[in-house]
Parts: sequence; C-alpha cells; structure tokens
Amino acid sequence: MSRRILGIETSCDETAAAVVEDGQKVLSSVVSSQVEIHGRFGGVVPEVASRAHVEAVLPVVGEALAVAEMEGPDLDAIAVTHGPGLIGALLVGVSAAKALSLAWDVPLLGVNHLEAHLYAAFLEEPDLEMPLVVLLVSGGHTMLIVMDGHLQYRVLGSTLDDAAGEAFDKVARHVGLGYPGGPIIDRLAAQGNRDAIRFPRAMMADGWDFSFSGVKTSVVNHMRHHPDTPVEDLAASFQEAVADVLVTKARRAAAEVGARGICLAGGVAANSRLRERLREGCAADGLRSFLPSREMCTDNAAMVAAVAWHRLAADGPSRLDLGAFPSLPMPDE
Ligand code: KG4
Ligand code: ZN
Repeated sequence: MSRRILGIETSCDETAAAVVEDGQKVLSSVVSSQVEIHGRFGGVVPEVASRAHVEAVLPVVGEALAVAEMEGPDLDAIAVTHGPGLIGALLVGVSAAKALSLAWDVPLLGVNHLEAHLYAAFLEEPDLEMPLVVLLVSGGHTMLIVMDGHLQYRVLGSTLDDAAGEAFDKVARHVGLGYPGGPIIDRLAAQGNRDAIRFPRAMMADGWDFSFSGVKTSVVNHMRHHPDTPVEDLAASFQEAVADVLVTKARRAAAEVGARGICLAGGVAANSRLRERLREGCAADGLRSFLPSREMCTDNAAMVAAVAWHRLAADGPSRLDLGAFPSLPMPDE
C-alpha cells in the first residue's frame, strides 16, 4: 500500500511543505522564501525568520495539501525537520507538525535536515548506486560523506571553519555584492576569468576536512590591495578555488572507498562551476555524477518527506514530545 507523507521544513529561511508518495513521487512541493525579507539585513536574522515562518507555515501546508488533492487526515505521516538549524525557526515547524499530528490523528516523525539534503538526489535519480560519495555543501555545512546503503552513512570530513556557502555569502558581503552571495557570485563568475587570481586551496592535499576561511580572507585582502580588479574576475577566481578543493577531495574519496559515483547536495550544489567540474571529474574517473536540479539542492520539504519514508520504515514514528535540536549531527554509523 502506498504511503503519503507530508514534509515540513522551517530550519532556516525557507518555509516549505510537500507531499511525497513512497519516498519517491512528489505530489506537491511548495517553498516560500524569505530571501527578500532578510536581503536588506545582509543575512538571515533569526527572530525575523521565526516570525515569518509563523505567518507562512499553515498557508504553505494548506497549499501543499491542495496541490496534492489531499485532506490532512488522509496522510500516512507528518515529517518535520527538527535539526540542525535556527532554534526559533525549527520550533515553529515542530510545533505546527505536532499540532497537525494531534488534530488529524496522523503519526509524527522528526527528520534530520542534513540527511534530508542527501535524499534530494534520490527523488530525481531513484536508482542511485551505492557506495556513493556525497558532497553536502550548504550555507551551514560542508561535509564529505560516504553512503554505503540507505540510511547508512560515514562522515569522512567536514569544514573546520566556514561552510562553503558561508564563504560565498561572506565574500559577497565584504565586496558589497548583496545577499545571498552564492547565486550572485555564480552569475558574475560566468563573465570573468577564473585564472585571473590564484587564491589558496586550503587542505587540498591533506585529510578529508575542509577550511574556507583562508580563501575568504584572501579575496577580501586582494580587493583591498587591488580595488580595480574586475569583480567578475574576482568572483570567477574565488569560485574556482572553492570548486577545485571540493571536487578534488570528493574524487579522491570516491577512489579510496570504491564508490560508483559522486552526488551533490545542499544549496551550493546549485553552483554552475562546481557542477561542471564534478561532471568533468567523474567522466575522467569513470564515475557517475549526480547533480540534483537547483530546486532540489536548496532547502525544500520534498527531501524531508523522502527521507521520512525510509526512516519511518526503519525506526517508526517519533513521540509527541519531539524536541528541536539546533546542532543535531549527521547520523554516522
Ligand atoms: O541548503 P541551503 O538552501 O540552506 C542551508 O541549509 O544552508 O544553502 C544556502 C546556501 C547559501 O550560502 C547560498 O549562498 C548558497 O547555498 N548557494 C550558492 C548558490 N546557490 C545557493 N552558492 C554558490 N553558487 C550558487 N549558485
Ligand atoms: Zn539546507
């Protein structure tokens, strides 16, 4: 019998809801972004985010159900991101999910946001072969993960300082480009020369961890000393340094663990040059590359409902006293 799960996502600055059947078929996926609200502050303001989630969460859930042509009580489960993320933002989603679970008498399930990002790829490529190396690159996280099977992960490395997306956002802010920095730098870089400036590639040769605060500082210092540098060249050279480190390490990890392919996940996975470098690198190594669509890379609730289908079968539902955990770690076997 097919199972239809409502996913709810409010961990950062997108209020999202989706209905997914059997972890596979997206019946609806609604995302209400707060980017414009936070744009004038140059970054996400937690209290502003929580308030915006309070206003948006029920209308977004209502729209997701309407598009899926379903009523709440017909759902088989309600899955909600309960960490990691901003505590106030998470609590809005978790509280709404609990209330709806009680009102509709539908089981509740807390979902890990990082694990959800990994499952975005499976919605578009159900037959992803494992072992698989996943590069999870978002505004809050940068992780190199090996997926040996469904719900089986090994975290090889993560960032020691800034996340990849954070580096994009901070560089853009320092150079006065706007927010969020990732898409703006991506767009400018398309017109620039990626070999114009050789920015440092920290930790490219050692270990599995990453560090992006050095390259960020180098970009800011370069602009201070050479203010006439075309911003397009700066963007392209910075983006190249980040993509170089990420792709080089992911390819090395794939070789070491005998992976079948490499998959991208998280908001930075929308980056054009990272996608291009990964596609070329995998082709050279005889690996498959999985590049989820840009909508699936950034925060959404379809990925929450997708992983929930696997988690529900493995662990059963959560209790109604489910908590919210701002630093919830990636499950690691
Ligand atoms: O996964 P996500 O939507 O939210 C988090 O869970 O963090 O990722 C947001 C991050 C932001 O830092 C944003 O600048 C970055 O993803 N991003 C990009 C691009 N699109 C979004 N970074 C580089 N290139 C892009 N095209
Ligand atoms: Zn995310």
